[in-house]
Amino acid sequence: MRRYLISLLAAFLTTIPQLALLDAARAADEPKTVLITGANRGLGLEFAREFHTRGYRVIGTARDPAAAEELKALGVRVEQLDVADTGSAKALASRLGDVAIDILINNAGIFGVNTPTIAELDVDKLHEAFTVNSIGPLRVTQALLKNLRQGHDKKIVNISTSMASISDNTDGGGNYAYRSSKAALNMIGKSLAGELGREDFIVVMIHPGWVRTDMGGPGAPLSPEESIGAILKLIDGLKAEDNGRFMDYKGQTMAW
Ligand SMILES: NC(=O)c1ccc[n+]([C@@H]2O[C@H](COP(=O)([O-])OP(=O)(O)OC[C@H]3O[C@@H](n4cnc5c(N)ncnc54)[C@H](OP(=O)(O)O)[C@@H]3O)[C@@H](O)[C@H]2O)c1
Repeated sequence: MRRYLISLLAAFLTTIPQLALLDAARAADEPKTVLITGANRGLGLEFAREFHTRGYRVIGTARDPAAAEELKALGVRVEQLDVADTGSAKALASRLGDVAIDILINNAGIFGVNTPTIAELDVDKLHEAFTVNSIGPLRVTQALLKNLRQGHDKKIVNISTSMASISDNTDGGGNYAYRSSKAALNMIGKSLAGELGREDFIVVMIHPGWVRTDMGGPGAPLSPEESIGAILKLIDGLKAEDNGRFMDYKGQTMAW
């Protein structure tokens, strides 16, 4: 009897690695879930469109879902989120419950109050850019951490900009709100990479190029399709060694 029980236990133990492999295969097979902030227009809408076309489960957030006509027309899940509001981020987390999120795209951003000279700048409005561009991604990541930990891919993509690069700030300065709030986003992303990298997360900062959106303006050289198409390929190929990188939409490393 004892020998029988031991052989039964041994047979069971040999199946454990196979069960783990089966689990991994099942996870890789299931549609992945991506959550995109500021998905009602511009680059966020293009992210939602392209991930949806590729068969992802897309959760697109908007400050005003009722007005997010193009996003709703995609047939994706639309959720309310103001990234400047901690209550809004927590309410989103509670509506999501146990939904696992594989990829978080911290895309929502504003140019903020920007003037070429310090003399014209309303310094009391500078914090708005920080609340949205720097603290927003941290606020959303914190609120959704449980969902991200349940995800398979564990990728956090912070949409940064070449204007966040301190070494690239050589064309006469100015634009205090945008440049400094996005540089702070890079630092926050690097810290997240350091902390969450221990749990196999990959956190990156990506400059999407200069793109024709409301923010980029009509004279920008890239279409949203060109920028986001390239970024999706980058996200697909992200590896552990990319954790904490600042790169452009082509995958070229950017100088901090
Ligand atoms: N376009 C470019 O050339 C370029 C270049 C470098 C980096 N980027 C970055 O790319 C990202 C997307 O830019 P874009 O060109 O698509 O800009 P956009 O056309 O101005 O769209 C910005 C998006 O962010 C949302 N947003 C703003 N404040 C928000 C808040 N407090 N909470 C939630 N959502 C908020 C907007 O929602 P509402 O409609 O409610 O305002 C909108 O969906 C930004 O982070 C931007 O800094 C853009």
